[in-house]
Amino acid sequence: MHTKIRQILLAPDRAKIIGQEHTIKGWVKTVRGQKNLTFVEVNDGSCFTNLQVVVQPETKGFDASAVNTGASVSVTGVVAQSPGNQPLELHANLIKVYGKANQESYPLQKKRHSFEFLRTVAHLRPRTNTFGAVTRVRNALAFATHLFFQKRGFLYIQPPIITSADCEGAGELFRVTTIDPEKPPRTPEGKVDYTKDFFGCPTYLTVSGQLNAEAYACALTDVYTFGPTFRAENSNTARHLAEFWMIEPEMAFAELADNMECAESFVKFVTTYVLDNCADDMAFFNQFIETGIIDRLKKVIETPFEHSTYTYAVRVLQKSGKTFEFPVEWGMDLQSEHERYLTEEFFQKPVILTDYPRKIKAFYMRDNMDGKTVAAMDVLVPKIGEIIGGSQREERYDELEAKIKEFGLDPKPYWWYLELRKYGSVPHSGFGAGFERLIRFVTGLDNIRDVIPFPRFPGSAAF
Ligand code: 4AD
Repeated sequence: MHTKIRQILLAPDRAKIIGQEHTIKGWVKTVRGQKNLTFVEVNDGSCFTNLQVVVQPETKGFDASAVNTGASVSVTGVVAQSPGNQPLELHANLIKVYGKANQESYPLQKKRHSFEFLRTVAHLRPRTNTFGAVTRVRNALAFATHLFFQKRGFLYIQPPIITSADCEGAGELFRVTTIDPEKPPRTPEGKVDYTKDFFGCPTYLTVSGQLNAEAYACALTDVYTFGPTFRAENSNTARHLAEFWMIEPEMAFAELADNMECAESFVKFVTTYVLDNCADDMAFFNQFIETGIIDRLKKVIETPFEHSTYTYAVRVLQKSGKTFEFPVEWGMDLQSEHERYLTEEFFQKPVILTDYPRKIKAFYMRDNMDGKTVAAMDVLVPKIGEIIGGSQREERYDELEAKIKEFGLDPKPYWWYLELRKYGSVPHSGFGAGFERLIRFVTGLDNIRDVIPFPRFPGSAAF
């Protein structure tokens, strides 16, 4: 059994652990020689801070040519107080090298690397300070997500990854098929015959688990999903991925106001959890990634989110005196530049925009009485814009069926979704929180490609 570095550096009782012998295992970050001592910084990912290993002349197994940056080691030694009240250190008795790292070619030497470069070594970047910290915060956010919904009595459900229905109706689907592209089966009209495909119909990777979540909410009241979703949209931006994770709660007997309350509480809960449980990682982000992020997040937690209708926001944008790349008019989808102006400059806090034009939102959103807007809500936050999108769902059969047709969709694959409106339909609402956008918001990282282990985006599925 070996000890995780975290158990030493964050030991609840420092006095007790000093003098004890422990074995740690990890990767060498740096090596520094001084007279007859060598200081080796080792990290095992269990916490931000490296453990300083002090190699003395009597340490067994030490080979200076093998113990260098990137090598994997096991060190057995005695925990000691380092001079000047620094973190604890380990006085090595025995060092074993598991795997050497060739210093000529190891890409992660001590200097700071650009994020662009690190994306080309995505298999090694988790060894850097930034990616170690992002990974721990990502883990904490995932755990806090489950904690939040479990505390509220939501059931965690797992919708299918392969589906035959386009949840968003936007056609941004990756097809799943076993048909041989060289010689596909053909219909008499000469089209590809998907009835001969693996599932007997056209299938895709899911863009959202919402439709399935609605079926479960309409039986079990409060449910949530947390899984990968896929969009074949050709967006090369700092906030889009082709494969991203989404958290989708769905609540029966809930209207838009309940949905907004849940979304705001969720963002505040998970942010608080990270500040409370990832102090070292957050201190690093505060110093090296976004100065002042900790105060910014504390303010977010303390301040009620602003609420505004889409229509009011459009007026604000039109009166802003700003020249936007996309001029603003009622009925258009807001772009990132508009969202950021609203949350960063005008409201200066997270804002929930509601009641969007029905034509720019998905078919399943409940029509408002005005005939022009739907009971939709988007949560916008500084630096990113939209991190959550949700709505109250159309629970009336006739209205939903008419809307599916009006939006030019084939009602066939939605038969079961429509049927939910036939038997015990209830008002219900839900939202989707983009997990990677949430991580960007909490860490201050500028690019979504740097908050997921192996990003997928147009032109890139490496690693
Ligand atoms: O607004 P969206 O498309 O909503 C839905 O998919 C609904 N079915 C959700 C629901 O009501 N259950 O996506 C929801 C969120 C966005 O606010 C954004 O944070 C994230 O998912 N998102 C993306 N994140 C990264 N890359 C992309 N390409 C994303 N598209 C959406």
